[in-house]
Amino acid sequence: MAITIQNDTGLITLATCNTEYQMKTDEYGVLLHTYYGAKIYGSDMSETISCRERGFSGNLTVGREEIRSYSLDVLPQEYSCAGSGDYRISGLSVLDSNGGRSCTLRVAGTRTEKGKYSLEGLPHVYDENGEAESLVITMKDPYSALEAELQYSVFEKSDIITRSVRFINNGSEAIQLEKAASLCLDWQFGDYDWLTFYGCHAQERNLQRVPLHHGVQSIGSTRGNSSHHYNPFSILAEKNTDENSGLCFAFSFVYSGEFLMEIEKDQVSQTRLVLGIHPANFSWKLEPGMSFQAPEVILSCSSEGFGKLSRNMHKIIRDNVCRGEWKYKQRPVLINNWEATYFSFDAQKLISIAEESSKLGIEMLVMDDGWFGKREDDYSGLGDWYPNEKKLGCSLKELGEEINKRGMKFGIWFEPESISEDSDLYRSHPEWAVAVPGRDPVLSRNQLVLDISRTDVQDYIIDRMSDVLSNAPISYVKWDMNRSICEKYSASLSADKQGEFAHRFMLGLYRILEELENTFPHVLFEGCSGGGGRFDAGMMYYTPQIWCSDNTDAINRLNIQYGTSFGYPVSTVGAHVSAVPNHQTGRVTPFATRGAVAMSGTFGYELDITKLTDAEKEQIRRQIQRFHKYYELIQRGDYYRLTSPKDPCVIWSFVAPDKNSALITAVSREITANSAPVHFNVPGLDDRRLYNAVFVLPEADDRPLKVIEKISGAALKNGGLTIPVVQWWEYEAWQVEITAAD
Ligand code: GLA
Repeated sequence: MAITIQNDTGLITLATCNTEYQMKTDEYGVLLHTYYGAKIYGSDMSETISCRERGFSGNLTVGREEIRSYSLDVLPQEYSCAGSGDYRISGLSVLDSNGGRSCTLRVAGTRTEKGKYSLEGLPHVYDENGEAESLVITMKDPYSALEAELQYSVFEKSDIITRSVRFINNGSEAIQLEKAASLCLDWQFGDYDWLTFYGCHAQERNLQRVPLHHGVQSIGSTRGNSSHHYNPFSILAEKNTDENSGLCFAFSFVYSGEFLMEIEKDQVSQTRLVLGIHPANFSWKLEPGMSFQAPEVILSCSSEGFGKLSRNMHKIIRDNVCRGEWKYKQRPVLINNWEATYFSFDAQKLISIAEESSKLGIEMLVMDDGWFGKREDDYSGLGDWYPNEKKLGCSLKELGEEINKRGMKFGIWFEPESISEDSDLYRSHPEWAVAVPGRDPVLSRNQLVLDISRTDVQDYIIDRMSDVLSNAPISYVKWDMNRSICEKYSASLSADKQGEFAHRFMLGLYRILEELENTFPHVLFEGCSGGGGRFDAGMMYYTPQIWCSDNTDAINRLNIQYGTSFGYPVSTVGAHVSAVPNHQTGRVTPFATRGAVAMSGTFGYELDITKLTDAEKEQIRRQIQRFHKYYELIQRGDYYRLTSPKDPCVIWSFVAPDKNSALITAVSREITANSAPVHFNVPGLDDRRLYNAVFVLPEADDRPLKVIEKISGAALKNGGLTIPVVQWWEYEAWQVEITAAD
């Protein structure tokens, strides 16, 4: 049983394979957080809590009696509220109709359920195989009609716990939620580092590891989307934690909008983490009888380092967040025309790309930006989702059919959440663009944001896209969003509800995606936001792959894909081989290296294939063969980071879940003359089994350059392998294929 409730002691334990999470309702009805970590087999960890008087801290009062040794300001709690005498960062902040800002939550009941609790209208972890058990703890404010349901699901085998909160107004007057975080988590002891993933457009998810200090540290987004700048995923780790050992915790927000992740180290060096919708642009009027559902957080804990923690996250996202027909189905190797043509193309050009691509084994052509309305550059056309037949030279249906005739599937780009001022849509519905009345809206990439918090606008998008998708043989949609959202304002909301805009925008986005995907279940949707500006578990519920970055430089991608791998599986990582000199960095890298790096993702091409040499085309043919050969291993295998992208040689591996095989890729990022040999260890295989290891240069034919026969899994793990070369060059890539010898 994953969830145990002891009614006599108030102890609640959530148990997974390797971890336990524990709470306890105390004599005052306060829900204490007593433990999260490696197994403790149900022991009551409230024995670690030592109460004593703390000067200047709020104490609990019962009636008018102050309990001076009981201070909410230092007690580890499950969900803390502002205005309760706990002066630390809190999960909930409420504005009452009388202007008061106090809230107190006390346990009123618990219930358990088989399966997963539900979250309406929001992406979430789902339970397909009956693995989950759920717990709902009802908390009530004794002074108001506010109720909060703390929701937990335990995925026992996966070492995953999900959390969320639902707020209900049982009274007759509205209550304003000013902050409604999804997660509040306390650690009484320990000295931690915080690993976050910062970045910018074209350089997303750089790992930053910093020690916690006294005070509040935070990351977040107020850009309308989860953002390139801080990913809504982080890790808290004990100081000595590395890839293979040490205690660490992961937090992934299943949400694509604004978020705040804060950590406070308090007066007695305890740690509290709070994660939820960013309160800066949030305020929700909870009308009588209504409820508000906060988005979900995925939690995992590993005492075997970051590698295990990441693999827990990979598995839950791959198996229980990504959905639909394309979840496990082999995704097509695609070619996208963006870096090949930008806006200047017609049907003939696309057909010529398809013609050449199909000969080499590429399976789908994706027509990017520029096929609709008046769109020759980024100044116009967004919102006018009507094919520009004049520019294309034919209808979309004819183009799709021509591509299909060449044995290729046909995909198409949309940016549904944006609108250009120079568009028919804007001319007929200026009020559909997001703007604050009386002020010029902020432009970004010359465009405005479409107000999809409105149902009429959602309906317009659903209608337009459905029309396009039903009138041409379209198998794939690239769903882009190319700006941040500055003005948090909707012409359709009253002044007292403008604080709801940012979240309503997300609910609108999720509704559009849900409806379109239900209507077009065979279409593969790929997410994108100027590359990886909305690379989050929320979007992965709708788009099982996301264009990871607009930066296609293989060497920069080593860092981007490394950072991404901490929280997200390879099956979600959109990665393409592009031309050299690279369009973002000017760097020239070997074709083989670009292939080896893109192969650790969903794989595709983004170049003018008609301009390649025969030798390069031959490499494409071989790369695709290799990708197909290793598809299962790459997409479903266990991922190991063997070095960091700061090392001169960047190495990672995929190990088959049955431990029958592995694939290692090594890229020389920076070379120095007369350097030491490149050596690495290969964890994850079966210690006692024997394996053959074959070294190959991915650009050559599959002739092995070195074979090691019958080496044990333990030798690979503890002794390792060395790249067999006298000299290897900057940006060169190697792969090692390992297969069971028995
Ligand atoms: C964004 C995407 C690119 C491309 C362009 C088109 O930047 O990330 O891949 O689709 O938009 O405008």
